[in-house]
Amino acid sequence: MGKKVEVEWTDVQGIVLSGYGDLRRSAYLLWRFQSGDLQRNKNWLSALLTRRLTPSQPGPSSKTQPARNLALTPSGLRRLGVEQASLNSFSFEFLEGMAPERAPGAPIPRRTNVLGDLGHSSPEKWNWGGWNEQTRDIDGLLMLFAVEAEIDQLIQDELNALAGIADGKPMVLRGQLFDQEIEHFGFEDGFSQPKIEGRPNKSKGHSRMAKSEIKLGAEVKAGEFLLGYENERKASVIPKGQDRDIRRNGTYLVFRQLEQDVPAFNSFVCAVGQQIGETGDWVAARLLGRWKNGDPLIPEKPNGNEEDAKNNFLYHYEDRSGLKCPIGAHIRRANPRDSLGPDPETALHLSKMHRIIRRGRPYGERWQPNGANGHGDRAERGMLFIALNADIAGQFEMIQHSWINNRHLNGLYTGTDPISHFPDGEAITIQNRPANFRVNRPKPFVTVRGGAYFFLPGLRALRDIAAAK
Ligand code: HEM
Repeated sequence: MGKKVEVEWTDVQGIVLSGYGDLRRSAYLLWRFQSGDLQRNKNWLSALLTRRLTPSQPGPSSKTQPARNLALTPSGLRRLGVEQASLNSFSFEFLEGMAPERAPGAPIPRRTNVLGDLGHSSPEKWNWGGWNEQTRDIDGLLMLFAVEAEIDQLIQDELNALAGIADGKPMVLRGQLFDQEIEHFGFEDGFSQPKIEGRPNKSKGHSRMAKSEIKLGAEVKAGEFLLGYENERKASVIPKGQDRDIRRNGTYLVFRQLEQDVPAFNSFVCAVGQQIGETGDWVAARLLGRWKNGDPLIPEKPNGNEEDAKNNFLYHYEDRSGLKCPIGAHIRRANPRDSLGPDPETALHLSKMHRIIRRGRPYGERWQPNGANGHGDRAERGMLFIALNADIAGQFEMIQHSWINNRHLNGLYTGTDPISHFPDGEAITIQNRPANFRVNRPKPFVTVRGGAYFFLPGLRALRDIAAAK
């Protein structure tokens, strides 16, 4: 057994360990600092720290206590006085940004191609963070979580604090958790998360369960999600002894506004169901890789641990050819577990290097048949997708590019993730006997509407930034 990892959880912002499930409403304030007055920006940060940014530990004193977390872009760090030498230590993709500028007539930037942000999902069309000069530049993301009765006041308080600091009125995106954490396509979401090594123990029975979790590859080194700790490659991006490095106890935060076309998804699964003699829910489950209630398509191995009851399965021995959970299904692409590699053990270890913590929430009203919610089919809804990782290129971008957008993943001939935004009209394959089902997806059910890469600093780093002369 290796040495126990001591993570400084009191310094890590709370969203790393918690999705704030008791705080069903959330808001995401996006803004650009007014240029010029560094000290004024630092004073705002000091005041925000005094109001309290929620740490991972101690957890909230009550279930209804509102939570705040702050993330910044490179320009946000700069406008709080972080010097270029320090900024240079951050990763290239963070410094370049999710949607690098495109000069008129120039080819599409490499990063945009890597992410598959093409067609209707092109940064040219984004509401924020894209190529439109008016809405392109973002400095900060303040994430607010509260119970329904308190969210409006919390937003108003933070908007008041930003008045005179932000350039114009911040953009406010609102998210919420629906009952049972069901996202707009109707699936329970957010429960398959990597278990960070060194996370605080919740239950006494934990250590007995840890063995099976480790075997399943569920326990992942802290350095995959926090800078300053050893990762799965036995390396740390911050050299030992550099405790005041501003990256310490921080992580990169990927934020994407993903619109979901619910009626198109529903009609598609029903039409395909009729074609092949199955129900719409059967088809939907093959596209996602789970039933709508979260149950997996592969029989789980009971391990007596309720928390992991839905997640105790692998692919290689149970379902190598994808007859139970299709090879191209969303969850099998996004976390292939032991299925991609020379042998299952190596594959499992490799896949641990490409995990993300997901903290996204739905936005917009639930879709109701026949426009019963009063807005017809045209109201916008989707997912405010958040991924946390220590290496955007090796984790989020790798999953998006090499697995979700990959037509030839694991021997497939065609088709990308059925619920991704990648624009192609290709067939989706559902493995079956004696012949596979191949169905055409007319257009993507998801469209990117905005996005940016942020850094979620540790609390000490934020205090140091606010105090630096
Ligand atoms: C609107 C878009 C999306 C929807 C509706 C969606 C929905 C879901 C649902 C319902 C699950 C299963 C529940 C769970 O495991 O917690 C899931 C799992 C997952 N999704 Fe997504 N997702 C979306 C986009 C993405 C994107 C863009 C990525 C990454 C680039 C991603 C990565 C993952 C991962 C890593 C898992 C867990 C897989 C596992 O561990 O088995 N998702 N998603």
